[in-house]
Amino acid sequence: MCGIVGYIGPKQAAQFLIEGLKKLEYRGYDSAGIAVYDGSKINVEKSVGRLNVLEKKVEQIAPKGHVGIGHTRWATHGRPSDANSHPHTDCSGNFVVVHNGIIENYLHLKEKLIAKGHVFTSETDTEVLAHLVEEHYQGDFEAAVKKVLADVEGSYAMVFLSNYEPDKIICSKQDNPLVIGLGDGENFVASDIPAIINRTRKTYILSDGEMAIVTKDSVWVMNRQGVPVSKKVFEVHWDAEAAEKGGYEHFMIKEIYEQPKAIRETTAGRLAKDDSSIIFDELKWTKDDVAAIRKITIVACGTAYHAGIVGKYYLEQLARIPVEVDVASEFRYRSPLVDDKTLAIVISQSGETLDTLAALKEAKKLGARTLAITNVVGSSIAREADQVIYTQAGPEIAVASTKAYTTQLIGLLMVALYFAAFKGTLPEERIQAIIRGLKQLPSQAHEILEDVEAIKTFAKEYGFNEDVFFIGRSLDYAVALEGSLKLKEISYIHAEAYAAGELKHGTLALIIEGVPVIALATQRDVYEKTLSNIKEVKARDAVVIGIGMQGDEEIKKYVDHTILIPVTDKYLAPILAVIPLQLLAYYAAVTRGADVDKPRNLAKSVTVE
Ligand code: AGP
Repeated sequence: MCGIVGYIGPKQAAQFLIEGLKKLEYRGYDSAGIAVYDGSKINVEKSVGRLNVLEKKVEQIAPKGHVGIGHTRWATHGRPSDANSHPHTDCSGNFVVVHNGIIENYLHLKEKLIAKGHVFTSETDTEVLAHLVEEHYQGDFEAAVKKVLADVEGSYAMVFLSNYEPDKIICSKQDNPLVIGLGDGENFVASDIPAIINRTRKTYILSDGEMAIVTKDSVWVMNRQGVPVSKKVFEVHWDAEAAEKGGYEHFMIKEIYEQPKAIRETTAGRLAKDDSSIIFDELKWTKDDVAAIRKITIVACGTAYHAGIVGKYYLEQLARIPVEVDVASEFRYRSPLVDDKTLAIVISQSGETLDTLAALKEAKKLGARTLAITNVVGSSIAREADQVIYTQAGPEIAVASTKAYTTQLIGLLMVALYFAAFKGTLPEERIQAIIRGLKQLPSQAHEILEDVEAIKTFAKEYGFNEDVFFIGRSLDYAVALEGSLKLKEISYIHAEAYAAGELKHGTLALIIEGVPVIALATQRDVYEKTLSNIKEVKARDAVVIGIGMQGDEEIKKYVDHTILIPVTDKYLAPILAVIPLQLLAYYAAVTRGADVDKPRNLAKSVTVE
């Protein structure tokens, strides 16, 4: 997720661009840049690092001009660097572009452009857009951009500027936000409302497939074929802070609701169109490399560790490789049996968790090959690991990790399928079935998020309990662990997760009348056993909320309330089942008046041991 701004009007563009980017830093902060037309040519200033690095640079040189575009980056392709920072230009410097999203077919387009003599200066997918518009330009800027839109596949919000027609900004969007701010004798472009709210509250919200030609006195909106689209003015009534959260009350709930998009972007370009295979352009493994893996050790902390527990089931059951899972702070001190036949997978949203980084280094020292699954391009863990798979969740601001967890599960499942294909441990039709299920997840996650009233009610009714238990078996137990951490860390309720079959060995003593028990029952192969554990706690007068799959009428006979997730493959159930638990934790914390985004004693990235 990146931040984009644009300005055209009588004032100095650079001032708005920097001001607007500051309001969008929550969308990405790896690097930043601006491009301003000074009356004869476009000047580009950009630098890696936080926006204040660029701001200091711009204060010195203060690029003059009344039209410009700017960008603050959240890296998805190409680590943070000056060269990879946006804006990007074509060979001639006559076209400049900023972009948010993922151009899925950029490698194919880049090869064709290089073959035609274009010289690239970055590792990004975005730079392709600048060279494409150069390639297509034959005296008509708008026509050239339309041809670019016809070439590209993927998700984008893109904004172009040209030396040839500097009296306009041309922009378009698909699956990523872009708004036009309507001023008086000036107009604005931005990824999000916070960037423009101090300049104007009148906006056009662009829809997918639309493009806009923005001058200082006019805004023409059309579809990609050039057919005019009439837009209604959307008047913004939010205050600036609410706008940063996209109108949500907290970053956490915003990020919970971003999960359909995060799932879609994490799988984008990685699921074969015919469902036959997983595509990891970034992984350099051969069949022999995978065959040589005797053991996998997964190491992580907190939520990422809980994702690793789910990953164990994926990798053992699908790829038939033995897996150990450790919390990073323990791994380093247990003299782990790791050698060159071990693959160490480290999972980290921030890519900066010190315990996990240290465990990664320990595993490497012992001879393991290493793979990182992280959400931050160019992070310390990403740089230290031999190979990296990036989740595409966008910045996760809330301390409580939500969209990072679900996209980590997606990453682990895709690795398991990728290995299974190499090892021949899964029939092709089984791989295809799971990939088809992966493609349905965004809409199924959206379905869950559209119906949260029951969860809100539970949170209000049980939000002041001091003890809550989560139980489940197999993959449901792994999700129960994550559900209990979510509730614990933001509502401060003492929540514990237990393997449902383990209750009778001690913890059942704590089950008293009225204590809430969240029972996960999505796994058919252990369903009957889970039901008997539900009966155990009901017999002690617990209040049970059952999490099952749609169509499950049986569970309703034994629990007090049910939340049913859309029917999906057993391996995909954790990705959907965790969403009601995230929402339960969120609304319980709100009920208790807790500081949801910044819970006491905790930090977003734990860079101390
Ligand atoms: C989870 O909600 C917590 N914020 C915490 O457990 C977190 O998952 C853990 O600190 C690991 O962080 P990482 O994924 O950035 O390494």
